[in-house]
Formats: sequence, C-alpha cells, structure tokens
Amino acid sequence: MQTVSQRMFALVLTLCLAASHATAQKPSKPVDAEGHQWWQHAVFQEIYPRSYMDSNNDGIGDLNGIASKMEYLKWLGVDVIWIAPCFPSPQVDFGYDVSDYENIDPMYGTLADFDHMEKIGKQNGVGIVFDFVVNHTSDKHKWFVESSSSKTNPYADWYIWKDGKGANQPPNNWLSTFGGSAWQFVGTRGQYYYHFFYPQQPDLNWRNPKVAAAMYGSTVFWYKRGVVGFRLDAVDTLFEDPNLTDNPTLPGKNEFGDQNQERKYNDKLPEVHDVMKGLRNAANPYNAVLIGETWTSDVSELKDYYGKNHDELQMPMDLMFTELKPLSANVFRKHVGAVDASGEWPVWVMSNHDIKRAYSRFADGKHDDDIAKVMAGMYLTLRGSAILYYGEEIGMANNDPTRKEDVRDPIGQLGWPEQIGRDGERTPMQWNDTPNAGFTKGIPWLPVPATYQTHNVAAEKADPNSILNFYKNLLAMRHTNPALLDGDYVALNESDSNVYSYLRRYKNQAVLVVLNMSEAPQTASFDLSAQGFSAKQAKTLLTTTKAGATQALSGISLPPYTVYIGEVAK
Ligand code: NOJ
Ligand code: CA
Repeated sequence: MQTVSQRMFALVLTLCLAASHATAQKPSKPVDAEGHQWWQHAVFQEIYPRSYMDSNNDGIGDLNGIASKMEYLKWLGVDVIWIAPCFPSPQVDFGYDVSDYENIDPMYGTLADFDHMEKIGKQNGVGIVFDFVVNHTSDKHKWFVESSSSKTNPYADWYIWKDGKGANQPPNNWLSTFGGSAWQFVGTRGQYYYHFFYPQQPDLNWRNPKVAAAMYGSTVFWYKRGVVGFRLDAVDTLFEDPNLTDNPTLPGKNEFGDQNQERKYNDKLPEVHDVMKGLRNAANPYNAVLIGETWTSDVSELKDYYGKNHDELQMPMDLMFTELKPLSANVFRKHVGAVDASGEWPVWVMSNHDIKRAYSRFADGKHDDDIAKVMAGMYLTLRGSAILYYGEEIGMANNDPTRKEDVRDPIGQLGWPEQIGRDGERTPMQWNDTPNAGFTKGIPWLPVPATYQTHNVAAEKADPNSILNFYKNLLAMRHTNPALLDGDYVALNESDSNVYSYLRRYKNQAVLVVLNMSEAPQTASFDLSAQGFSAKQAKTLLTTTKAGATQALSGISLPPYTVYIGEVAK
C-alpha cells in the first residue's frame, strides 16, 4: 500500500516522464554529418571559483576574475567552463551547501556580475555550465529553516525527518560519508534529519513533488539567464529506502573511525533515474547539457546514467578513469576499451576538486612534465568529451597541508591524518611568477605551491615546449581534425605492455596515437592494413619525440614517457 507522498511522487513522475518523452528525443541542430550535438565537440574545463582569479583582492576568486580570463580560455581552446557552486552559501563545504539556488554569493559577486561574465564568455565563445547541488541544501536555506521549525509547517516534508529509535538513538545506522552518523537531532521538532554529507547539508526529500518542482524550476531560472548546462552534484544519493532499513556492516573502520558498512539502502536507488529524466526534461527546451557526478563501479552502471532511451544525462562523467593506476598501457587500454565498447559517448576526466591532481598522482619525480603530456595526449585524443580541471594545462601539482591546523576542508580536520581533506587540489591558479602567482594581491585563501615559479601561464606561454603549449596545440587539433572529432577508436598492438597505441578512423582519414607509458625508451611499429590503411608512414601532427615531419611506421622511437600523434592516409 503506497503512502500519500508515494502516490504524489508517482503522479509527478508520470507527468514528468510523459513530458520528457515528448521532448527528450528532440535533438537540436547537429554540428556535423554524424549528428553530433554541440557539447560533443566542445572542450570543457572545471573552474573552482574560489581559486581561479581574485578581482578585488580579498584572497578569494570571483566571477569578475573569471570574466577577466575569458580571453585566456579562448586562447587555450576551452569552449565551456563548469563553475563549481557560486550560489549564496555559508561555505561550510565551500559552496556545496547552497542557501539560495537563484542568486550569486556576495563573495563571488552579483547577478549583474554573472550577466557580465556570461556576456564576455559568449563574446569569446566560452559557455557557462553551473553546478547544481541536487541532493541537499544548506541548513541555512529558508526551506530547511522552516522545515526544522515544526512538524506542521509548509516545508515539513521537504527533508528526511524521522523519530529516533529511542533516547539519543538515531533512526538507523546510516553513516555520513563525511564522518559519523548521518542523523542529526533537532530539538524544535524532536526528530532527526538525514544528511549524507555534513550536518549542515540536510538531504532533500525527493519523494516530495514540491521539491522536484522547485529544483527543476531553479535550473530553468539559470537556463533563461544564459547557462548552457549543469554539472549535477552527488546524484547517486538522491534517494533513501523509505523504510530506512539498517545498512549491512562490513569489517574494519573507515578513515573517520566509523565501522564500515555497505550503502545498500541509501545509495544508487533506482528512483535516481526518474530525477535524471525530470532534469533532462527541463534542459531539453534550452538545448542544455547535463553532466553527472557519477561515481560508478562498472561500465554498465555508467551506461545506465545515459538513460535507456538516451533521456537522462548526455555526459555522465567516467570517474572510474580517475581511479586507474598504475600508469600503464595495459591498465588504460583495458578500461578505455570497455568504456568505448559500451557504445555511449564517453566523458573523460582526470582530475577535479575532490581528488588528488593527476599531475601529482602519476609524477615519478623525474619525468613529471613528460608524464603530464602523455596523459593529455591520451585523454584528449580519445573518442568522447573531455573535462579538464583548471591548472591541469600548466602542470599544477597538489599542495597538500602538512599540519592539521592549516587544513581548511572540514573532512581534513575531522579525519586527520588518515583523511587530509581536499585543499591540496584546490589551490589558486598560477598565472605568473609574481607573489601569489598573480592570483591575488591579498592573502590567498589557500597557499600557492612553490612550483608556481616554473609552472605558470606567463612562463609557459613563452616556452614552446611547455605543458601549456602542448595542451593548446592538442586542443586546436582536436577542434579541427575530422578523425579526432568523429572517428572511431581502434586499439593497436594490444600485447605491448609499455606503449599504448590506437587509431581514430574517420572515412579516408585516420590519426595514430602512440604513447610510451614507461620509463624506458621503446620502439613501436605498425601495420595498419587490417584497419584499412595501407600507408607506410605518418604525417606528424604533434609529438614530444624527435620525429620529423613524416615518420616511418616501421619503427617509431619513443624516449621514456613520450607522445607521437600522426595522420595516416588510406
Ligand atoms: C561532491 C562535490 O564535488 C564535493 O566537493 C562535495 O563536498 C560533495 N559532493 C557534497 O556536495
Ligand atoms: Ca575576490
């Protein structure tokens, strides 16, 4: 027997799904003969707004700062920036605790500053994707303030409230992923509310149709203002088992000292897909793109996020890609092959504001910059979309805190030293070699790593062999080369455990990508006749080897950690 709220939820879903079926399949004008949409040819970059550029020298980046760098983004070849949340927020989770979805935090500027940034972006061909925190709000959001005031107020059912099991006993054993119980008691209601993240981030009750309507409405507010899409935060945890069944416990303790458990009843519930459809339905009339923070355990789970009728997310991020290790041809070939074989449009991501930067993950202390180029040479030439992380293009390294008292991220304060927090990957963008890397004339909210003196935009622009110029050249090629834009992916020399190579083929054209992922020199040879290309040599497009303008396919010399990209003819 369904409860009233379950029946209402079912009704709203039916309406949303009916509407979504009416519009989800309506693709906008394709940008090429393959029917690709605009976002399939766009290069995306995540920008953490606190750390990109500070225009008023208060030590925190802002929208005017981002606007001032639009020309740089255009120069680099970025088409769309995803800006981490810049809505009003108490900043407990640095913006992922939103207290108003339809405004800008004064720390970042005003709605007028947003309009200005959007306009300058448009002039430079750079679109704005906002970050929508779907799972929870701030505890200072007016919905939650009302909701916690009584059991009878109009927002009483907008969050997950439940009586305790007994005195000082939460409703069940669920844990917050940020440490401790996921339940917090509120005296005014005499009940507990549920928070998958910090206690200041209460989970919304997505089974309440009013929540769904309000949230879909906020995305439309921004589409009307010029936002071209959303990155959807924490979608896996939108729903909880209505019976609040205890999760099964697992052996061992986590980094916060809590008993491990399997998130059987509060993670990846099937209802999540209905909300993805509802959000897509709201996005379709604006031809907007939805990018998902989709932490999946395998390729089939990732495939589900596109929707069975391609009516959910256009770009669920392949975050499994960020977990691949060690750097090896076999590891990457295997994973890319599986994702590509799913037939969907892959979304490659190497770094973000929650994980150690790829530059630091793969650095060996000897070939760090070369390795950064190998990684870029790979993921920016694969079939699919790529989302860069700010500073990746100059080889920014993590700058992790070494003392608990320096930690800003609350999970680092709570879990130190097992959990050091995420400050290290969120440091200010390195623009030049002046103090604070040109990010601010004030005191930056996080310290700039010492590497800013060599790894900064100004210095690397001037160096033709820099990581920055490698990215710029790669992105220019990616924007224009038909085989990179539209070609299929064919793995080559699959038994080579040192060199990862593949072909991108489109009609009469093909691009050969050869990546030495080892610390030893290697030689790679190719016979591409089985792939329909009889060429014995390639025209060099971009390389970090010593190859000349043409390169014989019978033996490509690859010093340690190098990239060769060349064009081959039929
Ligand atoms: C994922 C975000 O990327 C992360 O930074 C945040 O702490 C959690 N979601 C909670 O919103
Ligand atoms: Ca500022």
